[in-house]
Amino acid sequence: MNIIPYKPGDYALLTKLWGEAGLPYKSEGRDSKEKIEKEVKLNCNRFLFAVLDGKYVGAVLATHDGRKGWINRVAVLPEFQRRGIARKLVEAAEQWLDDQQIGIVACMIEGYNDESFEVFRKLGYIPFEGMRYLTKRKFPGI
Ligand SMILES: CC(C)(COP(=O)(O)OP(=O)(O)OC[C@H]1O[C@@H](n2cnc3c(N)ncnc32)[C@H](O)[C@@H]1OP(=O)(O)O)[C@@H](O)C(=O)NCCC(=O)NCCS
Repeated sequence: MNIIPYKPGDYALLTKLWGEAGLPYKSEGRDSKEKIEKEVKLNCNRFLFAVLDGKYVGAVLATHDGRKGWINRVAVLPEFQRRGIARKLVEAAEQWLDDQQIGIVACMIEGYNDESFEVFRKLGYIPFEGMRYLTKRKFPGI
């Protein structure tokens, strides 16, 4: 399996993968084609695919703000899950963040997603109790 970077124009591959993995995303907001294709050009982002025998089977978006790194939108096609693909994607994302001198990596998991919560625990992420998540949004679907 190869881990390869997202190239401009790969948006349809990414959203197909998210859809097939059942990952909700903000198609009219920060996950829109315009936003993703713009973000991927920034030095603070690294979007990766897992490719197996030429098939795009997984993806992750790694981002940082110069202070903290984030693992976003990790997804693996259902028929390729439980084979260590998410682990490889997340480790590649972490390596890139480490190369950017980012020493803390975080992820946010929606309350319903117990499976993903377990996956990240197994990948070494420690739940941070007592945190409240607040946002201010330009529009609801952003
Ligand atoms: C979450 C997801 C990306 C995991 O992908 P994956 O390739 O199956 O994960 P891996 O095979 O790399 O597994 C990593 C670890 O988590 C464990 N794991 C995987 N799926 C699990 C599950 N459903 N429940 C509990 N543990 C699980 C694996 O056993 C492995 O642990 P180990 O190395 O100690 O054995 C995949 O289930 C998915 O795409 N889900 C839908 C989209 C989603 O919810 N994404 C997360 C958004 S925050």
